[in-house]
Amino acid sequence: MDSALYKTKVTDAFNEAAATYDRLGVEFFTPMGRRLVELAGPRPGQDLLDVGCGLGATLLPAAALIGPQGSALGIDIAPAMVEEAGRQAGRRGLGNVEVRMMDGEYPELPDRSFDLVLGSYSVIFLPDARAALARYAALLRDGGRVAFTSPVFTRDTFPFLPPMFTELIPMSLLEHLPAAWHPEQLHRQLHSWLEVPADLVAALDKAGFTDVEITDENVAMTAVSGEAWVDWSHTQGMRLLWQHLPAPEAAALRTRLIDALEALREDGGPVRIDVPVRYVTATVAR
Ligand SMILES: C[S@@+](CC[C@H](N)C(=O)[O-])C[C@H]1O[C@@H](n2cnc3c(N)ncnc32)[C@H](O)[C@@H]1O
Repeated sequence: MDSALYKTKVTDAFNEAAATYDRLGVEFFTPMGRRLVELAGPRPGQDLLDVGCGLGATLLPAAALIGPQGSALGIDIAPAMVEEAGRQAGRRGLGNVEVRMMDGEYPELPDRSFDLVLGSYSVIFLPDARAALARYAALLRDGGRVAFTSPVFTRDTFPFLPPMFTELIPMSLLEHLPAAWHPEQLHRQLHSWLEVPADLVAALDKAGFTDVEITDENVAMTAVSGEAWVDWSHTQGMRLLWQHLPAPEAAALRTRLIDALEALREDGGPVRIDVPVRYVTATVAR
């Protein structure tokens, strides 16, 4: 699939998801965004860019930390995400936030104009993320930093999902995914440099960064029920799979996932899944 068509599909999926994104009784992107901001440590008065800002899981807590003297620019390829992120910033009274629709792979922004570039679970959607990281290095002032998250990729995991789903989602279903998400393609595009820490350090070095820190931690994802989790999965990356599954396969997968997730509930409490997340920070090398 060519990169323009792939981006159209990603844009459509996130546009359709924006109204309910991360809001269906499941906590995941918000705690992950907060933790990324904690590790990135933006300081008062700094200027920051959040690539693929979504509804602002990192943009908004980071904007609160830099205060009114700083500026926070969120860019996203999906207009509905951008609009909603702007509304959320307004609701929180964050006057230092600006949001724009823009392709995060080729940000049209002035060189050396940011102190921090953030990207939580978004850099992984870029067809050539390594080349984009080199462009982010150019956007940073001396001493500036990049901070992003990705899944902790292992050889066998279903794209973008915690390991437990490998058993629940038959490999045959992956044939329905857009070509860009087929396991071999993902391996070339993502695992090849994100799976092994030494490869990641080498990729960041090539992109113009140094002092790379990699922190793998679980995000305790909670869902009020198995059904809530499956509904939520339609509002994030897995939407691409749901959209491409024939109806009978989608119905069977829904039932299988709900049953398995419900079995994880204890005493009527929420479903809790530990999701391994990789937090990466690095400093521009100049
Ligand atoms: C999984 S969401 C993460 C959103 C947000 N960072 C968060 O943590 O909630 C991925 C986001 O990346 C955006 N995205 C995907 N491809 C992009 C691109 N080429 N340029 C800018 N944003 C992109 C999507 O529209 C979506 O909002």
